[in-house]
Amino acid sequence: MRMQDKVAVVTGGSSGLGKRTVERFLEEGGRAVIADIQDAAGMRLAETLGDAARYIHCDVTRESDIEAAVALADSTWGRLDVMFNNAGRPGDPNPVETMPAERWDADFAVLVRSVMLGIKHAVPIMKRQGRGAIVSTASVAGLVPGSTATSYSVAKNAVIHLTKCAALELAGYGIRVNCICPGVIATPIFGRSAQLPTQLDARVAEEAAANMGGFQPLPRTGRPDDIAEGVLYLADDRAGFVTGVALTIDGGFAAGMSPEQRQRIWAPLREAVGALAGGE
Ligand SMILES: NC(=O)c1ccc[n+]([C@@H]2O[C@H](COP(=O)([O-])OP(=O)(O)OC[C@H]3O[C@@H](n4cnc5c(N)ncnc54)[C@H](O)[C@@H]3O)[C@@H](O)[C@H]2O)c1
Repeated sequence: MRMQDKVAVVTGGSSGLGKRTVERFLEEGGRAVIADIQDAAGMRLAETLGDAARYIHCDVTRESDIEAAVALADSTWGRLDVMFNNAGRPGDPNPVETMPAERWDADFAVLVRSVMLGIKHAVPIMKRQGRGAIVSTASVAGLVPGSTATSYSVAKNAVIHLTKCAALELAGYGIRVNCICPGVIATPIFGRSAQLPTQLDARVAEEAAANMGGFQPLPRTGRPDDIAEGVLYLADDRAGFVTGVALTIDGGFAAGMSPEQRQRIWAPLREAVGALAGGE
């Protein structure tokens, strides 16, 4: 019961990584406010989880919505131990050359500004308590340029840097600030750019699991449980000496290529060279 009596706010808690983290927090004895724009899914989840969960409509691009989500945790349970800034979506696929400035701003509003606001509004309650853990979802895309859309990659890199800056600002108040860098994890996020209806969410996650196992050295796609476990660790008092960290959970992607991956990439050239050698 690692989260016994702890209270969390989870943005993007209706689906994917956020949803699984909410479920795991509650399995470990905690309580959570699910803050999302997917109202039907969020309300269903809160209903399933019972009295230890609440749902609130929260568009993380609106400061007043984030403020209200944090206030709901405080008014319902009198505290806030964990702020999980997790809401997100894919970035605009344009390269810099053709990037409409307003789409860049929109990506940053969802992916970076929201994290700053989540920290901002969690801090007064955590200062009052003299403790708290803030975790945000960055990405391996924030570590390795080119693994996905540029605006997303730059935004996630900013989340990592924001985490470190905030960790330094808040260390003296007993508030730890860390982020998590997932690799490819089988969630519905991969259908969002194509604007697939949410009824297809489970199918999209299945397709990701079936098709993306070769993305990283460990030969399987990541699962929401892999990330929820990392968030639990960072939220737990047992990580009491851990702050300013970007915890990478990516099956080895950011470390480099395995011999099997190298073999797949080099095989055509080796074959071609072998054929040339045979012909001589
Ligand atoms: N799945 C991956 O491979 C992966 C990898 C690296 C990072 N991430 C990050 O993990 C986080 C969660 O993504 P996921 O894979 O669970 O995707 P998901 O689509 O299953 O969940 C994202 C949730 O965020 C919510 N959301 C989107 N915009 C919002 C807004 N403006 N306000 C409030 N909620 C909003 C969505 O409604 C959804 O419930 C995101 O920040 C994403 O960038 C995901």
